[in-house]
Formats: sequence, C-alpha cells, structure tokens
Amino acid sequence: MTIFEKFSLKDKVAIVTGGVGLIGAEFCKTLAEAGAAVAVVDLNASASQGIVDTLTKSGYNAVAVATDITKPDSVNAMVDKVISTFGR
Ligand SMILES: NC(=O)c1ccc[n+]([C@@H]2O[C@H](COP(=O)([O-])OP(=O)(O)OC[C@H]3O[C@@H](n4cnc5c(N)ncnc54)[C@H](O)[C@@H]3O)[C@@H](O)[C@H]2O)c1
Repeated sequence: MTIFEKFSLKDKVAIVTGGVGLIGAEFCKTLAEAGAAVAVVDLNASASQGIVDTLTKSGYNAVAVATDITKPDSVNAMVDKVISTFGR
C-alpha cells in the first residue's frame, strides 16, 4: 500500500488559502495527488488560475477562487463557489 492509498483524500474537498504561495502551492499539489478536489484560494487570481491549469493538465480536479481571507463576504462567496463547483 502506498502512502497515498493509506492517506487517501478521495471524495474530499480541500480549500487551500494562500494557495499560490511557496507553501500553499505545494499543499495544493500534494492534496490533489492524494485524491482531493482542491480549491486554490488566494488574492492573486491569475497565479491561482495558473496553478489550477497545471493541476488539471495532470488530471486533477481543481478550481481557482480569488479571495481576500480577511473579508468575511469574500470568504463566504468563496465557500459558495467551492460548494457549487464540487457539490460539497
Ligand atoms: N515558507 C516557509 O518556510 C514558512 C515557514 C514557517 C511559516 N511560514 C508561514 O506560512 C505562511 C505561508 O508561507 P509562504 O512561504 O507560502 O508565503 P508566501 O508569501 O509565499 O505566500 C502567501 C500567499 O498568501 C496570499 N495572501 C496574502 N494575503 C492574503 C489574503 N488576505 N487573502 C488571500 N490570500 C492572501 C499571497 O497572495 C501569497 O500567494 C506565512 O504566514 C509564513 O509566514 C512560512
């Protein structure tokens, strides 16, 4: 059994805030490899989309959501978008 089978995130949704950053981008990739659908959440919309493009080209399920996590309305809109995209 591989590490990804043991810690499978199949059918899970991961929201990665700061998803474009040094740490966030690696989290996005690893969570996707483990089977999660990933929301790449960041102030930087174009870079978020770039990470999503890379993930989807590799066959992973991901969406970019431009969000300012210091603003409750922005966070609520992001969660609505994640739920409407992935169904949960
Ligand atoms: N890189 C490290 O080795 C390290 C080690 C220990 C702790 N940390 C901490 O972990 C966190 C992330 O580190 P990093 O290296 O990935 O940082 P980073 O600067 O590379 O990335 C941070 C990301 O957060 C985004 N962001 C900033 N404000 C935001 C907001 N209001 N809403 C949404 N997105 C926002 C930025 O656009 C950026 O893409 C930081 O708080 C850092 O201090 C980092």
